[in-house]
Formats: sequence, structure tokens, C-alpha cells
Amino acid sequence: MNPLLSTLQPYPFERLRALTKGVIPSPAHRAISLGIGEPKHPTPEFIKEALRQSLDGLASYPATAGEPALRESCARWIQRRYGLSLDPATQILPVNGSREALFALAQVVIDPNQHREQGGPTVVSPNPFYQIYEGAALLSGARIVYANSDPARNFAANWSAIPDEVWATTQLLFVCSPGNPTGAVMPLDEWERLFALSDRHGFVIASGECYSEIYFREGPDAAPLGGLEAAAKLGRSHFKNLIALTSLSKRSNVPGMRSGFVAGDADLIKAFLLYRTYHGSAMGPAIQRASVAAWDDEAHVIENRRLYRHKFERVTPILKTVMNVALPDAGFYLWAEVPASLADRAQAAGLSLDEWFARELLAQYNVAVLPGSYLAREAWGINPGAGRVRLALVAGVDECVEAAERIQAFIQSLS
Ligand SMILES: Cc1ncc(COP(=O)(O)O)c(C=O)c1O
Repeated sequence: MNPLLSTLQPYPFERLRALTKGVIPSPAHRAISLGIGEPKHPTPEFIKEALRQSLDGLASYPATAGEPALRESCARWIQRRYGLSLDPATQILPVNGSREALFALAQVVIDPNQHREQGGPTVVSPNPFYQIYEGAALLSGARIVYANSDPARNFAANWSAIPDEVWATTQLLFVCSPGNPTGAVMPLDEWERLFALSDRHGFVIASGECYSEIYFREGPDAAPLGGLEAAAKLGRSHFKNLIALTSLSKRSNVPGMRSGFVAGDADLIKAFLLYRTYHGSAMGPAIQRASVAAWDDEAHVIENRRLYRHKFERVTPILKTVMNVALPDAGFYLWAEVPASLADRAQAAGLSLDEWFARELLAQYNVAVLPGSYLAREAWGINPGAGRVRLALVAGVDECVEAAERIQAFIQSLS
């Protein structure tokens, strides 16, 4: 067996299941889950129809590079969204959702034979982080070093804490903007610093952008800055060592379709295509055609965003009365701080504050949330997820408002 498999950590939901084992959620309340970050808005009918209309072609193997029509549709979307002209033949590649692409990219980029004397190659990740970053790093034979998010700077990752000797061994850096779970969008000056570091040390930047279409503000600069957009603004239209990962899952409410694409550095995309040819990760033809329909339409995305905005506008003020929580830049999570006044109760139960809160909220009010410490690792002396919970506002507005009211009642009952 591959010994690296034993380095993988239990997934946060496994830990939540263990934490709540034996808990009987209050039967007085129907269950509401703010736990899993899975879109729950309905899939638009026209996407389902495009899928139904695309069932011819199942008798042939699809090309790993995808049909030109799909790559052209992705290029049109990039043009509309970011004002950038990419070559669909060399700078864009369809993937089966960004999750598998994040993982596979590490297999392409990491050379485990380098930097042996310094502890091996490094992958740098934000902390808290999307769990695949860690598994991708470990199974590629790299070590992972975390940059903690700083609540005082809108949860920006503290890249400056990473010493130069670590950057010197870094081969891959994961950026998550808008962030999961913080919702923070990385500003241009941070991109500039990371590009300078990448130029100096030669590492690849993988920019996870699957929440880019869910944001709450209006106006010309409301849409989150993308990695490729940042590069172009800084005169780096070659996108050297930069790859952005985009997905239909959240934008179009089709996580079951497994459809996204990567875009950026043509040399990287070429190597990625070679790897994927052997890995066998071509996208099915019906999914490709339904994806074209989805990427080419913005009306459903505007409506989706409106629904999220409405939900966040209703829920955030309720929670603000009892917790430190703010409307994020983007995404569909609230990254809320559990009141420190509850620490004694957690301690008495032998649990960390966020674990205790999640367990008691489920027991007393039948609302599932994810302890923040499960989404982060202890690094530089702290776990930056400790004392926080992630609330995924994916259910309908009424359910989300009801969940917020139950959280409010729960906290008020304790003070
Ligand atoms: C930050 C982040 N990246 C990637 C993904 C994976 O999305 P998909 O594989 O559906 O594109 C998720 C899903 O929750 C996520 O939160």
C-alpha cells in the first residue's frame, strides 16, 4: 500500500459524526443543516434539458482536452467575467469539478526528489482551508506549511509568516479566493506579493475560485477579483506559473454534474493535459454539452446570487445580536465566532469551544454546524479555526432564518 495514505487526516464531517455520536437532536425541532457546503438551490431547468438533449455520443470516448465548443464557451465566460482573451486551445482545459483538478494538479507539479536535505518539497496552504489541499499535498509526497488567516485583516492569510527558507522549497501554493470558510477575497496587492515570491522561487500558484459568482455587493467592482484578472492587471498576461480553477457547482447549482475548468499558464496546461490523458479524466460528452449551456448563460447566475444575497441580508443581522459575525466578501458561508463567555461550559464538558457549541446546538436545537477547528490545523502556535463555527447558508431562506433564530435563542438561553 502507498504509505502516504496513512498520512491523511479524517475528513471534518467524519470528525463531526464522531463528536455527535450518541447525541439525540431535540425532537421538538425539525433538523436544519448548515453543516455541508453543498448548494441546495434547484438546478436550472435549461441545464437539465441540455443534458437530456445530449445523450447521443455515448458510444465514443471523449477527448481529455474536451470538445472545442466547451473550451470556447469557457473562454467566452472568462472574457465576459474578467475581460480577458484566452486561447481556448492552449490556455483552458475542462475538468470534472475543481476538487479532482486541485488534487491532480499537485501530482503534476510536485517533484518529490527536490529539496531532500531541507525536508522535501513544500506546498503552502491557507489555514483554515479546503481539505483537499492537504490531501493533494501529502499524496504528492510534499509537506504542507500553513499560512494562518488573520481575523484583524478580513481573514487574509498571513503569507509573511512563511520564512524565506520555506518559500525556497515551495513548489505549489494554494490560494482560495473567495475563501472557504472565511469568504475573504484576496486583494490585488496580495496577489502582487505572491507573484513576486513565485517569480523568485519558481513555484506554481493554484487559485481556487469556485465561489467567484456568489457575492453580495453591487456596483462595477463588486465581483471578486480573479487570479488571472489580477495577473493581467499587473502586466502578467503570460500567466506564468498561474492556474485558476473554476467550477459550475456553486455558480449553476450543479455539484452533481462534476464540471469545471482550469485556465492560465499554457505550459502548465500542456503538462496537465498529458497527465490527465493517462489518469483517464475526460469529461463525459453529455456533461460537456450541458456545461456549454450553463457557462453561456448569466441570467440564472444573477438569480442565484440574488437568492444568496437575500438570505445573507436576513440571517446576518439576527446572528449579529449574539455572535461576532460579519457579511463576508463572497461565498455562501458565515465564519462566526462563538462567544468566549461559553468557554467554561466547553471546558467542563472536556471539549473545545467550537466543538461544544456544535454538539450542544445540535442536541438542543437540532441545527448542524461545523466546528471551525476541524477546518484548520494548529500552526504557528494556534488553530485559527478554534472558537469559530462555519455556517453554510445553502438551505432555503426560511430554513436559514429559522436556524439563525434558534442559534440566537440558544446563546441567549446560556447568558
Ligand atoms: C474551496 C473549494 N474548492 C473546491 C471545491 C470543490 O468544488 P467542485 O469540485 O464541485 O468544483 C469546494 C467545494 O466545496 C470548495 O469549497
